[in-house]
Amino acid sequence: MKTDIVEQIKDRLDIVEFIRQYVPGLKRAGKTYKACCPFHQEKTPSFTCSSEKGLFYCFGCQEGGDVIAFLMKIENLSFREALERLADQAGIEYQPVQTLTGEEQRRANVRKVLDFARGYYHKNLMSRAGEHARAYVKGRSLTRETCEHFELGLSPAQGVFTSAAKQSGYTEADLKDAGLCIQTEYGLREYFRNRLMFPIINQRGDTVGFGGRILGEGEPKYLNSPETILFTKSHVLYGLNFAGPAIRKADRAVLLEGYMDVIGCHQAGVAYTVAPLGTSLTAEHAKLLKRYTQNVIVLFDPDEAGLKAALRGALILTEEGIFVKVASLPDGLDPDEYIAQYGKEKFESILDHAQELIAFHLQRQIDLHPQPLSAQDKTSIVTELTQTIAKQPDGIVRREWVKYVAEHLGLDEQLVLQRLAQTEKSAALSNRYQAARQPAVINAAQVSRTPSAEEDLLSWILKSPQHIVLCSELTAEDFSSPALWQIFQTIIKAHMENPQAENLTELTAQALPQQKHEIAKLALLSVPDDFNPARDIAACAAKLEQAGIQKKLQAVTRQMKTYGTGNVPPDVFQTYMQLQRKLKQYRS
Ligand code: UTP
Ligand code: MN
Repeated sequence: MKTDIVEQIKDRLDIVEFIRQYVPGLKRAGKTYKACCPFHQEKTPSFTCSSEKGLFYCFGCQEGGDVIAFLMKIENLSFREALERLADQAGIEYQPVQTLTGEEQRRANVRKVLDFARGYYHKNLMSRAGEHARAYVKGRSLTRETCEHFELGLSPAQGVFTSAAKQSGYTEADLKDAGLCIQTEYGLREYFRNRLMFPIINQRGDTVGFGGRILGEGEPKYLNSPETILFTKSHVLYGLNFAGPAIRKADRAVLLEGYMDVIGCHQAGVAYTVAPLGTSLTAEHAKLLKRYTQNVIVLFDPDEAGLKAALRGALILTEEGIFVKVASLPDGLDPDEYIAQYGKEKFESILDHAQELIAFHLQRQIDLHPQPLSAQDKTSIVTELTQTIAKQPDGIVRREWVKYVAEHLGLDEQLVLQRLAQTEKSAALSNRYQAARQPAVINAAQVSRTPSAEEDLLSWILKSPQHIVLCSELTAEDFSSPALWQIFQTIIKAHMENPQAENLTELTAQALPQQKHEIAKLALLSVPDDFNPARDIAACAAKLEQAGIQKKLQAVTRQMKTYGTGNVPPDVFQTYMQLQRKLKQYRS
């Protein structure tokens, strides 16, 4: 039953189209599709997927597998949760029969409690008890429809929500798990009291937490739910659940600062706007946005803190392969105030005139130095700017930026390029230093690794299993790792058991689930243009055998040395001679 649904899903969903929802940059490259990997940072695409094979693989970070594995990884879901979602998208009925694991059960509970709270707070705002809060919202120019669209709410005084939740069957543990209550020495206390509530809904439409604003003046102005099993602040963008389609349609997103700004913009018809939850922008945010568009405008307050935050955020977005522009509003107005006062057209025209990141950064640097610029100022400005240029993964844009900086500072392009090279060198050094300290980070050697002869061979026999017999002389010693030898044996076994099977890759992966990433990679390796299976497989197998013999020969030679001349036992010498003979055969 389980594999049945898995197969149905794979049949119905095209992995390329599915992944495209998360990686819009997928481009055709021969039979496969390529893009920069959503699972690690990179400048050249090494993420590959293929409709025909139903697999993806990243040659950079070695992540790989089928559509289910992809969804589990990118949305951080369990197998079952991923299956449910995929079945839903494929239009397949799927009622899991197994019971949920403890973790899934807790997540499902928290989801339920948060949904309950969202409904409760909203109803409360719209009821008589919510009159003063509705007056506040109205005073901030939000309409009733907007309140309903964003399901704004009102948290009541201490204790009221807890008893309502208990009456509906929720336990204190549920409320604590959901971050709605905390245990204090005075007993259980509600986290949000008398606040205007903003449900935080992730891109999948799950309520994961709340923001709560004080009604009027006071501290803290906003409270956000504590992090829970469902809620990681740096992984969520406020408004994205509504903004997603609008971002795809406009092919751009605007990054704002606050809840009220997002709501104000959506109300005025600019729905491609989102905001982080009062935290600074992270690579996770950037990855999330990249699923929708490659163009992001950062809108910031024109004060020093705003400028700094804009540049910082813009660099993070750039590093993830997003084309960033920066804009600011005149008059020191917040976006929600500006758009309420001047309307959608004026607001959008400011977006249309947003500055390129490099122009913004250069302007800021020039503003920080006295005019006219001295030679020394120019040096330090170029150094500063090359740090931004170095973050740009797109080679063409990079070149344009170098030109821009050179022109505007009246310098030779070569000089800017030289400084850029220096900046990159020191960045690479410090990266390497960090990589050495954090083994979890992928190192450069892995990223640029070309397939080894063994990997080529395995990928070729997956494609042309009828030629497996050409590899019959290979032994475990001929493989550089036991894992590859195991894959080799598994391929042979799978082929022997199902000589007619067309899905040899899948059979192999099923028989060896712990190696499924490597197997997916092998299946996606491309073959040489003039690939001739019989000739190439035979040659590759011979090469491996020969290398294996040489290795054995070295070992025996070392062994003989330990005995010393004249003391070598006859069987060791025999082995030595045999190996020499074999090697000769390969050479002739
Ligand atoms: P702002 O102070 O700009 O708030 O903080 P805002 O959204 O414009 O709200 P109004 O217009 O004053 O009502 C921007 C964001 O920073 C976070 C919130 O996410 C807020 O939307 N923040 C702000 C907090 O988390 N805590 C605070 O005390 C203040
Ligand atoms: Mn504001």
